[in-house]
Amino acid sequence: MQVGVIGTGSIASWFIQAARLVEDVEFVAVYSRAQATGDKFAQDNRIDKVYTDLEKMLKDNDVEAVYIASPNSLHFDHAKLALEHNKHVLIEKPFTGNFDRAKELVALAQSKSLFLFETICNIHMPHMDYIKNRIQELGQLRMIQCNYSQYSSRYDALLSGKTPNVFNPKMSGGALMDLNIYNLHFTMYLFGKPESIHYFANQHENGIDTSGILILDYGEFKATLTGAKDSASYNVGQIQGETGHITIPNGVNGLETVILTTDDTKKEVVEQDKPRLYYQVAVFKDMVDNNDFELRDFYLEHSLNVVEVATEALRQIGLEFEY
Ligand SMILES: NC(=O)c1ccc[n+]([C@@H]2O[C@H](COP(=O)([O-])OP(=O)(O)OC[C@H]3O[C@@H](n4cnc5c(N)ncnc54)[C@H](OP(=O)(O)O)[C@@H]3O)[C@@H](O)[C@H]2O)c1
Repeated sequence: MQVGVIGTGSIASWFIQAARLVEDVEFVAVYSRAQATGDKFAQDNRIDKVYTDLEKMLKDNDVEAVYIASPNSLHFDHAKLALEHNKHVLIEKPFTGNFDRAKELVALAQSKSLFLFETICNIHMPHMDYIKNRIQELGQLRMIQCNYSQYSSRYDALLSGKTPNVFNPKMSGGALMDLNIYNLHFTMYLFGKPESIHYFANQHENGIDTSGILILDYGEFKATLTGAKDSASYNVGQIQGETGHITIPNGVNGLETVILTTDDTKKEVVEQDKPRLYYQVAVFKDMVDNNDFELRDFYLEHSLNVVEVATEALRQIGLEFEY
């Protein structure tokens, strides 16, 4: 599969390194707004072609799929344009910042029989299957807790009066969309849509959530999901049931280790041996190779559910992203 890249930030390089471990995934082109930035990225990442005109890259017949790592608010336009040019699309988390836009993209991909896929690494990791398979050992579930907090280097810029993309409401930024979204994907992948949600946030004067707690009510059990970019924490995931609990040290964004503790004190630790961004690409590649539209729609429905909840959470704190 020959891939073109949109966006030249660090995540794009990390993604390329991990994706190259998947057989027959090649990176053939990059789009940047500036030639010099594109040239440097291409050289650092061993990519042959650099485009400063996105439509030209999308007309390149060597490009079969596009990986979108632009700021959140541009995901929609970039994905729509790529689909209109008959390219398969991998779109960085968050899928979009607006539920209606997300539905529009999904409908477009389905109408053109193209593959559209959110690169949210944690739900595709082997440890996710391990958790799914063992969760019944915990008995009646009661509490889920996830914390993903990281003091952002860009928070200092925000406090000094600048507006980095990730703290810009116009760029669909904020702690929920950037960090807590991993906790949300993790929880909704396991348990689906909650009955109700409440979002409480610390907000900068521009309205953006610099940290927040999202509470999901699943009836007989509840989830509290914390995401912060204005303060750091020990990151962790926990699923508590009446007969045991699962702990994920270092948080559910990486799912590096899973510890299962039950009443008979059994403990297990499992480890993944590939970079965290690898597994999602392997899933995508297989899906495309096998023309597996059922799996495409399964993951798209999950992404839509997550965007729907995130859109409602933001609405509760007075934020509505256009894209
Ligand atoms: N999966 C993960 O682990 C992970 C980690 C970090 C980020 N992400 C996601 O990856 C995406 C990119 O994040 P990032 O932190 O790299 O974002 P970023 O630094 O704000 O922007 C990424 C790239 O997009 C282009 N860009 C920036 N501002 C733009 C603008 N105003 N208009 C058009 N293009 C612009 C730039 O490339 P050019 O200058 O070359 O055009 C830039 O390098 C986000 O959606 C984020 O959520 C995922």
